[in-house]
Amino acid sequence: MDTLNAVLARIDADADAALERLFALLRIRSISTDPAYAAECKACADWHAADLASIGFEATARPTPGHPIVVGHHRAGNGPSALFYGHYDVQPVDPLDLWDHDPFEPRIETRADGTKVIRGRGASDDKGQVMTFIEACRAWKAVTGSLPVPLTVLLEGEEESGGVNLPPFLRANAAELKADIGLICDTNMWDPATPAIQTMLRGLCGEEIIITAADRDLHSGFYGSAAANPNHILARIIADLRDADGRITLPGFYDGVPELPEALRRQWDSLEFDAGAFLGAVGLSVPAGEKGRSVLEMTWSRPTCEVNGMGGGYQGAGFKTVIPSVASAKISFRLVFDQDPHKVRAAFRDFVRARVPADCKVEFLEHGSGSAIRFPIEDAAFGKARDALTAEWGKPAVFIGGGGSIPVTAELKQALGMDVILAGFALEDDRIHSPNEKYDLHCFRHGMRSWARILHALAS
Ligand code: BES
Repeated sequence: MDTLNAVLARIDADADAALERLFALLRIRSISTDPAYAAECKACADWHAADLASIGFEATARPTPGHPIVVGHHRAGNGPSALFYGHYDVQPVDPLDLWDHDPFEPRIETRADGTKVIRGRGASDDKGQVMTFIEACRAWKAVTGSLPVPLTVLLEGEEESGGVNLPPFLRANAAELKADIGLICDTNMWDPATPAIQTMLRGLCGEEIIITAADRDLHSGFYGSAAANPNHILARIIADLRDADGRITLPGFYDGVPELPEALRRQWDSLEFDAGAFLGAVGLSVPAGEKGRSVLEMTWSRPTCEVNGMGGGYQGAGFKTVIPSVASAKISFRLVFDQDPHKVRAAFRDFVRARVPADCKVEFLEHGSGSAIRFPIEDAAFGKARDALTAEWGKPAVFIGGGGSIPVTAELKQALGMDVILAGFALEDDRIHSPNEKYDLHCFRHGMRSWARILHALAS
């Protein structure tokens, strides 16, 4: 216990320097989806490898056909081995004019109530969260010269872009990467005072469809009605994807989606989720999903179909009477329980093909897939992590569901047979993926201390 207290004190004493390091990381424009930022992604991977090496990890940034993957090993230590996964890439920053400052010039802002936030792209998702873990390791090394458990750190640069390079990397390096337990810091707290372990993640199936009709844009006066309009075809397809009750209409879509198990329902009921406040915080009030389902079910235990982007025809200023040649949409399905992403993709493609008229063609682009996953919270490691979080925050940690996806988790289970403890310190209002992303300073600080405690607990 004395050692742990010394480590916690070290984290507190080093807090300003930890923030400087995070700021250096946040200045790197590691937007993975845009090839224009490939060099910055590499720079970010190199930054992490050098930082890990500086605290005694054997660390390298390994090339892949896409962005590098950072692997660091610290083999000393007793007890069960752990693999920490995080991602160094970030989402694009558009629309840039909605940011109050340069997304890659991080800064501290003080809110009206005196609390402070770290503002910048990646502050929360996932650079700030990753650094809570690495700073905890740094403190353990500084105080004891070692880490409580043998540890591998794995940092990916394509999480935000549906990266295809990590699964083959995991399989090719399975023996090197396998550990007794996985750790990820890329999820939310229940609320600003209540720490949480997320016990399940939704899967994802991402598709882009491109519908082409005539071989050029046409004058809508000359060709209107006579020529197929891909915007209309696309609109019909998208409208058909949901029925009037909000159910998704793809044949077989709900295969593998059970009603919420009773134990889980009770656990979630005890959280007393406030759906009105949840929607109210983003200027909404009416749940838009499946009729007869609670908002928590809609976001945690039911699958979704969402159009994430669509385009076709003239979208500049003013007006242009055109029938476009091409229309396209990016569509994602969040998957739950035992839904099979490959079956969903196939059903979607059949559904679309059946609605594309003769004379027109459709092209499909695949944007990643992953299954949903649940973890056995009754296992000892989960209890230890929960107790460690409770000790740090002074409030019982809760087990929660969640709506987001972290595709690697299912891969860790399938390829390496590992369960993963998802302990994160992000908050619902962090604006991840949006302008003015932030991470609360107290989440960063207590996050570092939380990981120091979890590492200690895992070793016991
Ligand atoms: N950290 C998020 C996901 C998340 C947030 C999970 C909060 C649980 C609670 C992650 O970085 C993310 O945004 N993932 C993407 C994955 C996708 C691009 C394949 C997502 O969920 O959209």
